This record gives sequence, structure tokens and C-alpha cells, in this order.
Amino acid sequence: MTEERIIRPSKNILGSLRLPGDKSISHRYGMLAAFAEGTSRFTNFSTGADCASTLSCMEALGAQVRRVDDGTVEVTGVGGRVTPCDAPLDCGNSGSTMRMISGLLAPQEGRFTLVGDESLSRRPMERIRKPLEMMGARLVLTEGHAPLTIVGGALKAIDYTTPVPSAQVKTCILLAGLQTTGTTTVREAVRTRDHSELALRAFGAKVERTADSVSIYGPQALHAIEAAVPGDISSAAFFLCAAALFPGSNLVLGELGLNPTRAALLDVLTALGARVTVLNLEEKNAELVGTVQVTAPAEGLGTAEISGALAAQLIDELPVLAAIGPFTSGGIRIRDAKELRVKESDRIALVAKNLRAMGAEVSEFEDGLDVPGGQVLHGATIDSGGDHRIAMAFSVAALRAEGETVIQGAESVAISFPEFFDLLDLVAER
Ligand code: S3P
Repeated sequence: MTEERIIRPSKNILGSLRLPGDKSISHRYGMLAAFAEGTSRFTNFSTGADCASTLSCMEALGAQVRRVDDGTVEVTGVGGRVTPCDAPLDCGNSGSTMRMISGLLAPQEGRFTLVGDESLSRRPMERIRKPLEMMGARLVLTEGHAPLTIVGGALKAIDYTTPVPSAQVKTCILLAGLQTTGTTTVREAVRTRDHSELALRAFGAKVERTADSVSIYGPQALHAIEAAVPGDISSAAFFLCAAALFPGSNLVLGELGLNPTRAALLDVLTALGARVTVLNLEEKNAELVGTVQVTAPAEGLGTAEISGALAAQLIDELPVLAAIGPFTSGGIRIRDAKELRVKESDRIALVAKNLRAMGAEVSEFEDGLDVPGGQVLHGATIDSGGDHRIAMAFSVAALRAEGETVIQGAESVAISFPEFFDLLDLVAER
């Protein structure tokens, strides 16, 4: 069932929020806890459907999951050996679930089949097949995609350089390496988000890093932990960008994850002219957490160019940055972001299509977009393509458009951020 949501223009963004737990960290905590020995306990666990997919796959593999009303999740792990599972494991819409679980399962004896929804079944899985087969597992794909079957068993350690910057692929290899005798090393040209490295250490594993590599020594056992999941900075991005659009705005987001491999958006907003203040910075299970306050510049936003390593680090925030591009003075230019084409949707094509629907001029490239500044947008019907980040990015653009905007496929926000529209109503002044 697809749902439509009407977004009316806003006068300002004001308020203070605490956001649900980070999706990337919740996936990793949930998966590692389910694999570890003992019972782990997480407060502020992600409320998104993607992390629920990870938990339900891990339940099918023998872990026990208990959800408490206040958003706490307790996970009792299988102690390093999963239960054989004949039924396909349903990863839903979640690329993280499918790619990371594949690494966890490849060293386990047995056959495992992983399936996903229509979007996930289009996404490239060759990127995990190659390293896992180098380690000695067999992965049978369907024309490079899911459904995929893993024929697991004892593996050998490898030294692998990732051809595309991907934290999911890095994690897949590290989770296989965790269970494999010897040293498995992953080298990456661009340092991608390092939540797996930090989470593996928090669960007691020894992981070593250099500037461009991560090594894990297997086999190692994991032990249960207790942790508070920091607020999701990729969900925060929609609110931070919204606040940056309104002179006079004042938005405060508490207990937000500020891991440096995830927080590049704050630098881009600063470069655009927004005032970004970070308070109460502390470390929790090696993850940085703090309060962020954003106010918009009286003279409006400037210009930004995002390319190279920055494009990889901001990959989930690019749709919303492009969507606010028309409201800057000098525009937003994005390059080296070809990966956007193989996310939950082709995000370059959908951003261009929806900006044009709102009356904007935009140039589309194979690896990015040029969104000129100084444009006036009008309300339009937005095709989210069932992609949560497209639905949320255009809800933000709609706040500054003239007239009402209809977001089609609005239910998709539940993939990462079910509370999105309610929280937007709380801070958007009409
Ligand atoms: C994620 C990594 C990124 C990101 C995704 C979450 C993760 O994907 O786009 O939303 O949690 O590791 P890739 O690894 O494919 O770049």
C-alpha cells in the first residue's frame, strides 16, 4: 500500500529533539549481539524496518530477541554458532542486512538463502561474492543480485582491497575474518564508516587499523555488551538541512552520533554558512556522541562542491543536500557519487526528476548532479520510488516551496525513520 503525505510550506524550524538510534550502529550491535555469547541490552535501538530485518534474520538463526516498550532491545546470542535454517532469510529492503549477514554466515557450515524486496533484489551483490569466494565460500547469485545462496564452511584469511568504497562490504569481510584462522585484512582507498571496527572492539574482538586498512585476527569469540545507541546523524540530516533553510531557525538535536566518519555533513553545513555548534561531546563504546545546534545564516546559504572522498562519506546525505541546492545562492555540485545509482533507488535520477517536477533546473551526470542556486520551487507530486531518503529529502525541499507538495510512497520513511513526519510537524512552524 502506498501512502501519500502532504507537506505544506513552513515559516521556520524551531525546537529540540532526540532522534531514534543510528541505523548503521543498530545493525551492527544487533548482529554482533546475536552472534556473541550472553545477553546484550541496547537502549534507543533503531526503530526502522531495516534493523528489524536484521533482528528477525538473526532470530531465524537461533538468537533470542526481546523488545521492551521504551525502545530497549535485548538480544541473547548463539555463542558463535548459528542454528541451521532451511527457510530463506528475508532481508526486506536492507542492503546492510544482506551484505553483512553474508559475511557472518559464510564461515558457518551449511547452506543459507537470503532474499529481499523488489528494490533489494536489484542491488549489486557481486561486490560481496568476490571476496567471500576468495576466502573459499560459495555464493550463488541471481544475475548478480539476490536471491543469493551461501554454501558456507571453514574459510581462509585474505588480504583484500575493496574496489568500491563500501562499509557494508568491509563489514562482510571482517565478519567472515572474525571466524577464520589467521589475519584477514581489508584495504580501502576512502575510509568508510568505521562502526564495525568500533563495535567489534566493544564486543571484545581484537581489530587493528592503519590509515587505509583494517585487520582482524580469527577466530575470536564475542561477548555481550550494554549500550545506548546514539541518535542517527543520517536521519538528523533532514532536520539539520531544514533548519539551515530558514533565517531565524534554531534546532537542537541531543545525544546525536558524531562519529567522524559520519559527521561530514556538519562541515558542509558550516561551509554553506550555517552556524553549527557541538556541545556535550562524549565517547560511548568508542562512538562519539554530542548535542548539535544549528541556526541558519541571515544572508542565506552559500555554495558547496562535494566530490572525491567527501562524496563517499556523505553518500546517505547527498539526496537532501541536492534537494536544498535550489535555495542556496551558488548551488550544490555533486560528483564521484556513482554509488547513488545503486542505492534503494537510482537516487541521482530520482533527485533530478523530482527537482524538475518542482520547477527547478538541474543537470544530471553519471556520477552526480549540478543544482544551480537562487531558484524558486513550487509544490509538486513527488515520486519517492519507495525510497525513504528520497521521500524525506523532498519533504525538506517542500518546506521552502510555494504551495503544497504531495509525497508519494511516504510510508517508505519507516525503513529508517518511522517518526519522521511526526517530528517534522513538531519543529516546522506553519
Ligand atoms: C551503510 C553503508 C553505506 C550506506 C548505508 C549504510 C552501513 O552503504 O549507504 O545506508 O551501515 O554500512 P555502502 O556500504 O553500500 O556504501
